[in-house]
Amino acid sequence: MSTRRRGATATARPRAEPLILVLHGPNLNLLGTRDPLIYGTTTLADIDAELVRLAGARGAAVESLQSNHEGALIDAIHGARGRCDALVINPGAYTHTSIAIRDALDAVDLPAVEVHLSNIHAREEFRRESRIAARCVGQICGFGAQSYYLGLDAALTIVERRRAERPRDV
Ligand code: DQA
Repeated sequence: MSTRRRGATATARPRAEPLILVLHGPNLNLLGTRDPLIYGTTTLADIDAELVRLAGARGAAVESLQSNHEGALIDAIHGARGRCDALVINPGAYTHTSIAIRDALDAVDLPAVEVHLSNIHAREEFRRESRIAARCVGQICGFGAQSYYLGLDAALTIVERRRAERPRDV
């Protein structure tokens, strides 16, 4: 399953407001009913709606995509180049396996924040390694749905700082 949601009117780049791409990996479409003791009861639609609200309050926009397919996530990362200002990514189980997603993050050279609902360092051994962590500015995990909101805050702070430092056209 793949879903794409957009929290603002689509316009071609360059755009005044920052655009953050939020990527959700496999099985995250089942949030709300999937292992609620680990992942909580908040649905993906609830998370995406809150991300749009939080971004809007900071004059930014969010586009979100969920896919159960590695290639679709990679295509979305490629598509963000030159169009989005930063990424927030929860690759689900691909976190622990996907060199291809890591390479895609390298290739697009956009600031990325890795997020997880659960604390992957307090779970099974195989979840403790993230293949993408070294390609991200940082990792936020263990706060349930709030990990996404903290991740968005981090991404927007990076983008706002970069814009403030950017020399202006005269
Ligand atoms: C997850 C953690 C992963 O280990 C797991 O495979 C997921 C969800 C999280 O958000 O906690 O699908 O990324």
